[in-house]
Amino acid sequence: MPIERVEVFLDDAAEPLQVLRQPPFKLKLDTRTVPDGEHVLRVVTHYHSGGQDVQIKTFKVSNLPGVMVQGLDDGAEVRGDLEISLRIADKDIGTGPQRFPGLGAAITTALLLLVIWAFFAVSKVPNKILEEVAPPAKTGETKPAEGTVAVSVDKALLEKGQALFQSCAGCHGANGEGGFGPAFAGNANLKDTKIVVGVITKGRGNMPPQSQLDAESVAAVVTYIRNSFGNNFGGVSAKDVEAVK
Ligand code: HEC
Repeated sequence: MPIERVEVFLDDAAEPLQVLRQPPFKLKLDTRTVPDGEHVLRVVTHYHSGGQDVQIKTFKVSNLPGVMVQGLDDGAEVRGDLEISLRIADKDIGTGPQRFPGLGAAITTALLLLVIWAFFAVSKVPNKILEEVAPPAKTGETKPAEGTVAVSVDKALLEKGQALFQSCAGCHGANGEGGFGPAFAGNANLKDTKIVVGVITKGRGNMPPQSQLDAESVAAVVTYIRNSFGNNFGGVSAKDVEAVK
């Protein structure tokens, strides 16, 4: 919530008429408490960031005995330009023009153009703050799928892996086509770093653990098989291997 509070001042009062802390920022103003004539409404919005925004609106109040506000329901949520008609009729006298013929003239419509800017909807300032609080996702930055590690393929590691792969080729095929062991070409299991590193370091079934390989070598050979034979699953670092171990 970027808006800390909204203070509404009437004319040059030092004390705010109302302090609004929660949306919807509703303002209730009984014009009968305000003398006739020109007035200034000062809306000061305080943001959590410490900044503030001041909007000034002038309006004219023309009170006659008894004022009925039209165009604004009690407790209404206001937003944008607001046009409020004030119908003047003294309830004590009654409004029937038949019984009080002279009253027709008295029911003069004083139009109060109380324009409250939808400062929280229109102003660019809150939007800017919102962006700071919740920055929009940067395009081109995709989250790696569960179990995969988004590391760009390290070329040196890839070459090292290619050399190490010679010890795997006997069972998995020189082109990853498989043999005694499963194929690597088009093998979606290779996406899962945990499984791949686990099988290589701990072994599984007829696959002997490749305990002669240190973390960097495992990372190299995994990087190689994940990015060869038509695969494109991204690189794996020695740190990733250590994490799985
Ligand atoms: C002695 C033969 C042999 C050698 C050598 C060998 N593997 Fe395997 N590998 C297997 C077999 C058999 C499996 C299937 C294990 C099972 O699940 O029963 C396997 C499974 C795997 C898997 C899991 C594939 C999947 O789809 O789940 C990976 C990854 C793997 N090997 C990587 C390697 C790497 C890398 C090397 C070389 C450093 C290597 N293997 C060397 C026989 C071998």
